[in-house]
Amino acid sequence: MSNGTTEPLRVGVIGLGIGNAHAEGYARETRVKLAALCDSNEVRLKERALKFNVADDILFTDYRAMLKQAGLDIVSVCLPNALHAPAAIAALEAGCHVLCEKPLATSTAEAQDMIRAARMNGRRLMVAYNHRYRADVAWMKRVINEGRLGTIYRVDAWWRRETGIPGWGVFGLQEYSGGGALLDLGVHALDLALYLLGFPAALTVSGSARTSFGARGQKVWGAKPEKFDVDDFSEGDIRLEGGVSLHLVASWAEHRPPNDDLIRLEIQGTDGTVVLNIPNYTKTDTLRFYTEVAGAPATITPAVRWASSGHEALIADCVTSLLANTPAPTDAVQGLAGVRILEAIYRSAAAGREVVFEHEADQLA
Ligand SMILES: NC(=O)c1ccc[n+]([C@@H]2O[C@H](COP(=O)([O-])OP(=O)(O)OC[C@H]3O[C@@H](n4cnc5c(N)ncnc54)[C@H](O)[C@@H]3O)[C@@H](O)[C@H]2O)c1
Repeated sequence: MSNGTTEPLRVGVIGLGIGNAHAEGYARETRVKLAALCDSNEVRLKERALKFNVADDILFTDYRAMLKQAGLDIVSVCLPNALHAPAAIAALEAGCHVLCEKPLATSTAEAQDMIRAARMNGRRLMVAYNHRYRADVAWMKRVINEGRLGTIYRVDAWWRRETGIPGWGVFGLQEYSGGGALLDLGVHALDLALYLLGFPAALTVSGSARTSFGARGQKVWGAKPEKFDVDDFSEGDIRLEGGVSLHLVASWAEHRPPNDDLIRLEIQGTDGTVVLNIPNYTKTDTLRFYTEVAGAPATITPAVRWASSGHEALIADCVTSLLANTPAPTDAVQGLAGVRILEAIYRSAAAGREVVFEHEADQLA
């Protein structure tokens, strides 16, 4: 790193859509300096430069030029999914730590190449799992870690939208996104489930993936796509080690209550069930804990207190772990675990049968 103990870490952001939230997170930090912004779209690049009040000489339309010239310590990769691997590997080889947007990659092979590049270059590779940094998720993690659910045996993890196919960018194109709703939304719901359970290994995966609306130009946010060749509704049944069954549903579009956009996790155990219900990104009244008290069914409604959350909290945590040299909070190995399951859902859907992982857990490390 370029810093001794006091110099701020030099940070660059590649891709300034959600990269805007990364830049905001870094801009709030005194421990880092926003030292480069990159986007191939010059109009967007100029808009962000104005917003963050940065000089023209730290603006780049080519990330390889940025990596050569900007002398960076950390790079956020916020590009379309299929560009995560090449950009992250280039940044790692240039000696930078990388915070990569989700999904880590569009395939297990790409994710493994990225992790290999991080290890060979002695740099960190982390995934932007911002939803872990919600106060209600933190509360669930604590309830589970305290053993209050007893033995967990069943998890339902959803992110489902009535109308929500992204009409901007390249989300609907297989070539650039590697998949649709499953990679975009399913990856978050799956990560929350795996994170809360402590990343048990997946043993078998059975999935289905379909396109009902996108190819017809229906249920799209914004402009209708000229081409749409990814899934807009997918689901998977995943058998996890320890006897837990996980059902994952991800949809950009389906017939449900108008404008519904719902993240829901239901984790069932022998002593209690905890439910996270987040309609339309709300932060209020999202938790229920069902258990038994003195022989009677009881419903607990926790009132959690919120502080910093989302990308802001994620970025602060990543910077803290880098400076303190403590384990990365959203390490890429966890990103790989998710990608491997999502890839298996697509494989299972295409083959019409279950995918069985045998003796593969050690290949993840
Ligand atoms: N963590 C989250 O909650 C969250 C939210 C939204 C998006 N994402 C992820 O972030 C990534 C980007 O999504 P988005 O919504 O910002 O998309 P977007 O289309 O709004 O932005 C992508 C940006 O990348 C730029 N770009 C494309 N190719 C480039 C290249 N070769 N060099 C430089 N710039 C290039 C585009 O011009 C565009 O401005 C995706 O992987 C998506 O899954 C994560």
